[in-house]
Amino acid sequence: MRKYKVLVVGMGKRGMHHATSFNANPKFQVAGICDIDPARLDAAAAKLGNPEKGSDAAALAKAVKPDVFCFCTLPNLRTPMIQAAIDSGAKLIAFEKPVALTSAELFTIRDLVQKSGVKAVVSHQHRYGDHYRKVKEIVGSGALGRVHTVYGAATGWMTHMLSHLIDYTCWFNEYVPGTWAMGQAAGRVKLADNHPSPDYIAGFVQFANGVRGIYECGAGAPDQPDVPRWWGKCRMGAQGTEGFAEVLTNGGWRAVTKSGGYQSGEGIMNYDHDMPPYIQEMADWLDNDRQPHQCNFEHACLGAEIMLALQRSAAEGGQVALPLNQGVDEQALLKAKIADRPVLVSFEQNKKEFGLP
Ligand SMILES: NC(=O)c1ccc[n+]([C@@H]2O[C@H](COP(=O)([O-])OP(=O)(O)OC[C@H]3O[C@@H](n4cnc5c(N)ncnc54)[C@H](O)[C@@H]3O)[C@@H](O)[C@H]2O)c1
Repeated sequence: MRKYKVLVVGMGKRGMHHATSFNANPKFQVAGICDIDPARLDAAAAKLGNPEKGSDAAALAKAVKPDVFCFCTLPNLRTPMIQAAIDSGAKLIAFEKPVALTSAELFTIRDLVQKSGVKAVVSHQHRYGDHYRKVKEIVGSGALGRVHTVYGAATGWMTHMLSHLIDYTCWFNEYVPGTWAMGQAAGRVKLADNHPSPDYIAGFVQFANGVRGIYECGAGAPDQPDVPRWWGKCRMGAQGTEGFAEVLTNGGWRAVTKSGGYQSGEGIMNYDHDMPPYIQEMADWLDNDRQPHQCNFEHACLGAEIMLALQRSAAEGGQVALPLNQGVDEQALLKAKIADRPVLVSFEQNKKEFGLP
């Protein structure tokens, strides 16, 4: 059996997760790895069977000619990697959330992907957790009656977490597109982070099937006291006319339905558990055009537009229509417009995480 050749760019935390999981799947072989940090590159090579190495992703991709171009660099680096992947003739691009920091860049990379016809996936892999799947199963079964609301809250800041909250709730709502969004944002500390974000952003989304989306992310988002791990304090769910079902990233799931009463179960986010099916679906899609990956780029773009519309609304006020009709720099808008007042936290621990006195 011919294995699909993989190039992984960015050998940090997520690059190593990806590379290890590709090598653990018999359909894939990591043939090249890239990082601008030579020590990191050498350490990674030793763990990955000494594939080709390089610090220039585009040049290495031309030499390796991968079937899969995977990049796990920080969110500021997107367009040059997508371009390098396409130029190398890769059949599938796998990259990390968030899709893009600005709608201007979202539109650029979407054009590149669509014009080239390359397959692309974005790593919203928490969904493979048993607790996430259980909530999706309950929502999809009709046990909640008519679903009218989906919601997501996380204390981690926007560029880390909002993409996850929106993607999984869009999954619960069958990826029906949004028609508008309206948001508010506060606090400037994390605007300078490598995941640049307002310290708190919250807002509403109208979906085309009438479902309401409610999101909040950052220092003002509620504590999830049942979850000790700070980054796991995320709650996503759906409410209907006959019940609700929700998942806590590091705290299992729970539901109340008319026919089933109260139910709950375990589950925590675990990369070792969630990466293998995420990787396997790439093989399935490469093998069969009619078996697209759940985390396909088209799905991710629907969420990315919502996330950017919330930011645009937070900066400019009012409702923002979806789909977005013009690419702008939401990061610059937020930096120009967010008031220079400290964010007000929802519980004490957030002060430490947001560097507040
Ligand atoms: N899906 C998830 O569950 C999840 C979890 C954590 C992080 N992430 C995302 O993964 C991405 C990476 O995060 P991380 O924690 O692995 O970051 P990291 O800082 O650990 O790794 C990034 C690596 O990219 C390298 N790099 C930077 N510029 C480069 C270039 N031009 N060419 C080659 N390599 C370059 C850096 O040297 C570093 O080794 C981020 O977008 C983050 O939001 C996703």
